Amino acid sequence: MQDKKVYLNGEYLPLSAAKISVLDRGFLFGDGVYEVIPAYLGQLFCLEAHLERLNNSLAEIRLELSYDSQQWSDIMAPLLIEGDAQYIYLQVTRGVAAKRDHAFPETVEPTIFAMCSPIVPFEYKDGVSAVTLDDTRWQLCHIKATTLLGNVLLRQQAIETGCAEAILIKEGYATEGAASNIFAVIDDVLITPPKTHEILPGITRDVIINLAKANQIAVQEDIISLEALQLASEIWLTSSTREIVPVTTLDGRPVGSGQVGSVWHVMQALFQDYKLGLS
Ligand SMILES: Cc1ncc(COP(=O)(O)O)c(C=O)c1O
Repeated sequence: MQDKKVYLNGEYLPLSAAKISVLDRGFLFGDGVYEVIPAYLGQLFCLEAHLERLNNSLAEIRLELSYDSQQWSDIMAPLLIEGDAQYIYLQVTRGVAAKRDHAFPETVEPTIFAMCSPIVPFEYKDGVSAVTLDDTRWQLCHIKATTLLGNVLLRQQAIETGCAEAILIKEGYATEGAASNIFAVIDDVLITPPKTHEILPGITRDVIINLAKANQIAVQEDIISLEALQLASEIWLTSSTREIVPVTTLDGRPVGSGQVGSVWHVMQALFQDYKLGLS
């Protein structure tokens, strides 16, 4: 692996030299949260929204860390390579405690790690296949927690069935993808499940809703039953690293015509312009 520069606890150092303790609570318990922030043309995209979600995640796990936007920007800026599309992974754990104990330690310094990676363009021409799976994760999916084992197992199951993503179903309704939010076009209306504890409040999701509203595309935040999903004319999966991925096969059957849909083409153009600051 390329020995790029990363940030760890106040220092910039080569990736191979970045080490954390085996007693870090992120390693022992998954006791931490993270963010993934894309950067286009050297600018962090939707930075304030990502930092607001980071602060919400930190507050939810009661990890006190009061960095302002400027401090976070100052940490991330030296990692960006000018001109390239890339994203920053920002990981914060509760830190290293002397004793292994589930309960929070009284005094501990959080571990803060940041690393930049290039965005590899995703090939959308024919869309991707998705499989519906039972949403077996926990009840606090609105926290962007490093504890991702549920998501990992579901994504792996999807890959092993030849699909790019799992679409998760809870009590008969779609929640989100294993690492993405979901949109469906049903009767010409773009629908995405509302923000609850069952989904991660995706930043890409918000951008798409706002772009739809500003461009007279009918959009609604509403529940999507599995039956409605199966009849949708389009299904998309959205995330910061993959943007808007059209799903053209669901559980082995074509979605709508089985081709990438017309609403996706419209939204894709709007999103590309927006992210490059052209709209
Ligand atoms: C479970 C889950 N839902 C939704 C998303 C999309 O969020 P965002 O658009 O902020 O990347 C992600 C991103 O990784 C995710 O892991």
